[in-house]
Amino acid sequence: MPKENCLYNSGIFKKYFVKAAEAGQSLVFITGSYDETFELGGELGRILKQGGVVALKGALGAGKTCLCAGICRALGVKVPVTSPTYTIIHEYEGIFPIYHIDAYRLSGADDFENSGGIEALYGGGLSLIEWSERVSPCLPSDTVYIEIKIIDDGRREIFVKGILSKDC
Ligand SMILES: Nc1ncnc2c1ncn2[C@@H]1O[C@H](COP(=O)(O)OP(=O)(O)OP(=O)(O)O)[C@@H](O)[C@H]1O
Ligand SMILES: [Mg+2]
Repeated sequence: MPKENCLYNSGIFKKYFVKAAEAGQSLVFITGSYDETFELGGELGRILKQGGVVALKGALGAGKTCLCAGICRALGVKVPVTSPTYTIIHEYEGIFPIYHIDAYRLSGADDFENSGGIEALYGGGLSLIEWSERVSPCLPSDTVYIEIKIIDDGRREIFVKGILSKDC
C-alpha cells in the first residue's frame, strides 16, 4: 500500500488514485473528464525528470495528448499543446525542453530515427511519445509507461508504470 508521504497519496494524485499494485506493477488512476486528465498530467509533470522518456499508449481519442498538455503546462509551457500527428515532433520550451512526439504515422524504429526521434530522446529534455509501441525498440530502459483505456464517454483508466517507485 502507498506510504503516507508518497506523491500518489496526496493532492490531486489521491483524488484520482485507485490502486497501487504489487511492486513493479502499474499505479491506476481514473479520471472523469478532459480537465481531470489534464490535471493528473500536471501532477505527473511535477515529478517527471529532465532527460526522461514517457511512452504513452491508448486508442485514438483516449486522452494521450490531453495528458501531455497537462504535463507540459506543469513544466512551464505557456503555449497551447497540440497534437504532433503530422509534424511528428513538437518541441516546447518549458523549464527544460520538452519533445512531444506522435509515432502514429511512423513505420517503425528506422522511420523514428530518420524523423529526429533519437536526437529528441537524447537531447537532454523530456520526451513524451504517443503511439510509443510503434517505436518500442528505441525506448530506454528507464522509460515511464502510461496506458490510457477508455471506460466510457467521459471516463479514462490510466495506468502508470515505472515512475513513482524512485520517489516513495
Ligand atoms: N477522462 C477524459 N480524459 C481525457 N479526454 C477525455 C476524457 N473524457 C473524454 N475525453 C475526450 O477524449 C478526447 C481525447 O483526445 P486526445 O487528443 O487527448 O486523445 P489522443 O489519445 O491523443 O488521440 P490520438 O490517438 O488521436 O492522438 C477529447 O475529445 C476529450 O474531450
Ligand atoms: Mg494525440
